[in-house]
Amino acid sequence: MLNYQRIQNSEFRIQNFTNSMRFKRHTVTAALPYANGPVHIGHLAGCYLPADIYVRYLRLKGEDVKFICGSDEHGVPITIKAKKEGITPQQVVDKYHKMMKDSFEEFGISFDIYSRTSSKIHHETASEFFKTLYDKKVFTEEITEQYFDEKANQFLADRYIIGTCPKCQNENAYGDQCEKCGSTLSPTDLINPKSTLSGEKPVLRKTKNWFLPLDKMQPQIEKYIESHKDWKVNVYGQCKSWLDQKLQPRAMTRDLDWGVKVPVKDAEGKVLYVWFDAPIGYISATKELLPNDWKKYWQDKETRLIHFIGKDNIVFHCIIFPAMLMAHGDYILADNVPANEFLNLEGDKISTSRNWAVWLHEYLIDFPNKQDVLRYSLTANAPETKDNDFTWKDFQMKNNSELVAILGNFVNRTVVLTQKFFEGKVPPAEEFTKADVLLMEEISRFPQKISASIEAFRFREALAEMMNLARIGNKYLAENEPWKLSDQKRVGTILNICLQVCANIAVLAEPFLPNMCVNLSSILGIGKLNWRDGGRTDILKTGHPLGIAKLLFEKIEDDVIEKQVAKLLATKPKIENVKSETQMATIDDFKKLDIQVGKIIEALDFPEAKKPAYKLKIDFGKEIGIKNSSAQITKNYTKEQLKGKLILAVVNFPPRKVGPFISEVLTLGVPDKNNETILVEPGKDAEVGGKLS
Ligand code: 2FM
Ligand code: ZN
Repeated sequence: MLNYQRIQNSEFRIQNFTNSMRFKRHTVTAALPYANGPVHIGHLAGCYLPADIYVRYLRLKGEDVKFICGSDEHGVPITIKAKKEGITPQQVVDKYHKMMKDSFEEFGISFDIYSRTSSKIHHETASEFFKTLYDKKVFTEEITEQYFDEKANQFLADRYIIGTCPKCQNENAYGDQCEKCGSTLSPTDLINPKSTLSGEKPVLRKTKNWFLPLDKMQPQIEKYIESHKDWKVNVYGQCKSWLDQKLQPRAMTRDLDWGVKVPVKDAEGKVLYVWFDAPIGYISATKELLPNDWKKYWQDKETRLIHFIGKDNIVFHCIIFPAMLMAHGDYILADNVPANEFLNLEGDKISTSRNWAVWLHEYLIDFPNKQDVLRYSLTANAPETKDNDFTWKDFQMKNNSELVAILGNFVNRTVVLTQKFFEGKVPPAEEFTKADVLLMEEISRFPQKISASIEAFRFREALAEMMNLARIGNKYLAENEPWKLSDQKRVGTILNICLQVCANIAVLAEPFLPNMCVNLSSILGIGKLNWRDGGRTDILKTGHPLGIAKLLFEKIEDDVIEKQVAKLLATKPKIENVKSETQMATIDDFKKLDIQVGKIIEALDFPEAKKPAYKLKIDFGKEIGIKNSSAQITKNYTKEQLKGKLILAVVNFPPRKVGPFISEVLTLGVPDKNNETILVEPGKDAEVGGKLS
């Protein structure tokens, strides 16, 4: 048996001097979402949740941090939405700004301010910023030819124009970006341009705009990027590729009437480019929050500026905004720009226009008080290094098998046993076994491990580490079985250690599961702790009375999940009842079927399927892209044999739910002599995307 005092000795508690401590304060921004639709889980996983975890962690460490966000209320997506709904752009942004602000707040994204770019303070700040650069003669004035819609009588900026992407042939690329291949474009790059206002082919007209000479600034920007080789691989890599292709001057004004008016003469009918004004929104929001103190969060070198964004925003935050700040001269630059990849939903790209999304405001109604379950499942599955998939089945599994079965169960058993054996008071712990000491040493290392992952922006890893704490607590309790012991002293020691693990969870889980931590703290009868308390095994003093026990998480039943999947599938065309009898078909019936050549790019096991099957990812080329299909062909093919195979599939059937998976196309097959399916293969010269006729 070992002495208690020795365990509390700080020799076990590793101090961490981490990255964040090199700075006096922190300005953390999360990309300003366009106010043209509600928040969905893709937004959360992409940047708001990781940013919130990071900020909560810094606050727990006692750091001086401001968390800044707001709605991006300018730009063509807003005006397009207004036209579609027959209302004004201001009405659009008023509606969605409120909706987004409310749902972020209810979900627990702890912004210090959630502002908006249609505010007076923002218009003034963005105008002033532009004027400073103009007065410093940073901009070049250029007369260029821009597309003009003669029918709608207006110039066509960015998203007012669509056409074929010159890089990947996607026929629906926008004037500023191709969403399929991710290329940044300018409207004149598009093949067969079309106005989204009238559908007409636009004409070129001369107009004057102000350009930021990124070409001349390339050396400074290069130096900046090169000093940040520590950035995430995807971020640094995208910046490098932009720089390798040589930066081009970029127009910072647009011929539009919705936005911040260009504050110089001769600029009638022009507004600031939305990507000029939006990032300045971070500054104006800080000004709104701290009218007298904002400068130190933006202009003091001892401040660390971090931008959390999604991968489609990298160039704007790593090249264009820093170039604007450099040209201005008074500002600090971002020290890191952690960008996530995209989150898909049930195997398909999240899409606002197709209503293929889990909307946060709806989730909050359907799952009241379950904010932390979504936070947990999105973080455990965060698209940090590659695109990832959210499925309702996985959400259920993460709740039932991890939050309920591991974390909730451990806390509940510990508290109930303490009530049963020690009247709800923390029992003394005086003598320890070797295993107790090892456990306490292990506990002492958790804060540092979790810190290291959070500071490296590896939130999945940090969360997994936090759950390991609950896991080892659970294991310790199961191995020691205090309910079977007669030695009260020993029972007390075991429960004391378990209670200290619970208290550690109440601190170290706060960035990830803040609501659970409030409940856990109340169960333990403790107030708010800080990060420095983590790792200690004397947080709860002997005799301390616990609060009232209650369950931290509840099981989510199958029918609840089925309802969500059904709601999602209802947004896709309905499945027709197929008549069993064979009827005569007409040529028109045949023509209704769209059967195309696809190439299998990946075959995966499908353990959840009722009969042995694979999940296939099939590429059908530029028109319909990649689709999922399930196929019961495990008897005739290995996964490796399937890769690269050309097949035929019906691509215009409604999607079908196969267990947790959504099968979008029907792969054609015929029975072999054993009545097992073999695939219909069109021959090696067939074109991917070619139609059967
Ligand atoms: O991609 C978007 O949703 C943009 N509204 C992000 C703007 S971030 C910042 F610059 F304001
Ligand atoms: Zn493209």
